[in-house]
Amino acid sequence: MEKYITTPIYYLNGLPHIGHAYTSILGDVMKKFEQMRGNDVYYTTGTDEHGQKNQHSIEDSGLAPEVFLQERSDNFRNLFVKLGIDFDFFVRTSNPNHKKIVQEILQKIFDKGLIIKKSYEGLYCEGCEQFKKKTDLDENGCCPDHKVAPKAISEENYFFKLEPYREWLVSYIKNNPDWIQPAKYAHEVLGMLKEPLEDLCISRPKSRVWLGVELPFDKDYVTYIWFDALVNYISTLNFGHNQDFDKRWQNSYHLIAKDILKPHCIYWPIMLHALGVDPVSHYFIHGYWIGEGGVKMSKSLGNVVDPVEVIDLMGVDALRFYLINNMTMSGDSQISMDLLKQGYRMLANNIGNLQMRVLKMVQKNLDGKIPSCSVLNAEDKALVEKIADGFAKIYSKEMSLETISELADGIVKAGDAANAYFAANEPWVLAKNPEKKERFEAVVYTTLEILRLIGLAIYPLAPTSAEKIEKSLGIANPKFVANFEALLLKDGDSVVVGDPLFPMLA
Ligand code: MSP
Repeated sequence: MEKYITTPIYYLNGLPHIGHAYTSILGDVMKKFEQMRGNDVYYTTGTDEHGQKNQHSIEDSGLAPEVFLQERSDNFRNLFVKLGIDFDFFVRTSNPNHKKIVQEILQKIFDKGLIIKKSYEGLYCEGCEQFKKKTDLDENGCCPDHKVAPKAISEENYFFKLEPYREWLVSYIKNNPDWIQPAKYAHEVLGMLKEPLEDLCISRPKSRVWLGVELPFDKDYVTYIWFDALVNYISTLNFGHNQDFDKRWQNSYHLIAKDILKPHCIYWPIMLHALGVDPVSHYFIHGYWIGEGGVKMSKSLGNVVDPVEVIDLMGVDALRFYLINNMTMSGDSQISMDLLKQGYRMLANNIGNLQMRVLKMVQKNLDGKIPSCSVLNAEDKALVEKIADGFAKIYSKEMSLETISELADGIVKAGDAANAYFAANEPWVLAKNPEKKERFEAVVYTTLEILRLIGLAIYPLAPTSAEKIEKSLGIANPKFVANFEALLLKDGDSVVVGDPLFPMLA
């Protein structure tokens, strides 16, 4: 099946941080998970390069806009490459093809008579790039997310009427309970739809904002950044010029955090509906990463986690695993260097040490060769099969945030079970007694086979370690396919004792 996974496209007013890294890693994990099940996935991430916020950063930098945008966008792209993120296309809204499609879509909606011009007075929050109602503000009259009072703005603009679509959207959400996941966010959106929807201001006068896509029907204006940015999800598929558009779009997944629910779950489906296009098939919405102890990460508190620093210390896989294993479904999740180190040690003790111990035993006592599975007793087989079935079950589930988090949990549990089995059977004692040779071989085979299954299952989360595990078991060209048939390790194959998967941290 053809599938399409997207992340938000990130603003360029700052450097990429752990939150951006998370959503883009999550998309890559989902891509690999789907690929292992035989699906053909197109995955995009990228940068949002227009609007007032980016414009002010360019002005402050003194650089030429193209130079600034290229440099800042490359920061994201380079980090994502470093994180092993296998995107198929890196979106940049400054791309001429994207701009052309934004204009075509605007013209279509304009020709349908859905856009009107009027003068408007409103309170604008630059941080959100959105007009705010008084009721959206906190007790100090500030935006609750950015803690800044929005600016009063009065100007003539173009507007897209949202209210005529409100009823339709409410029924769509109610009739498609899996559309917005987790369900609490669907309720939040339904809450926003209780009141009539204000007209969406889709333009900005060039006198105020010059960084944007010019309106095709009025040269004095650029397109409102959200109207432009959301279109990336379909301009990437070359909407309007691609006969196969539906094939991907009908199995599409938007990954976002809770901060951008309104533009994604209200403006975007309405824009598409007005164009006669179905909404995205699924939204997966996650919470925020915050500092240890539940405090916001900030430079002044010194608790900001820099993804590059983490990679340099413990490698990409440990960071990827931590992020997937520790994002809670219910709310925000905590991260700090100390928490990451704890996560790293867990991986080292759980999978890393076990792998090294058993491989060394094979090298020392079995001439480096994998023994035969014929010596396994019923209990050994039952353990391997239980673990294999557990992974097979997870890999047959509908893809969701929950499934991916169950996968991380299943891997840790399988590692725990293998360690408990290894400790209880004491192969180091068996190895010394020639009469127990068969039993020794059975314990070693069982442990190696569980490691093979873990290596397969962990691939989406920790691709480099997965490859190392499989290769250490004598599988020269590992194929990462969701086939969890048990007892496939071949006797006589040679194990390869390499460096530890998760060496002691400096
Ligand atoms: N440019 C818009 C999105 C347009 S999409 C058509 C935007 N950009 S952003 O740079 O602010 O990125 C917001 C997204 O970054 C969040 O939705 C989330 O994916 C990610 N995160 C930013 N901070 C985060 C955390 N602290 N924790 C988790 N994710 C975070 O909004």
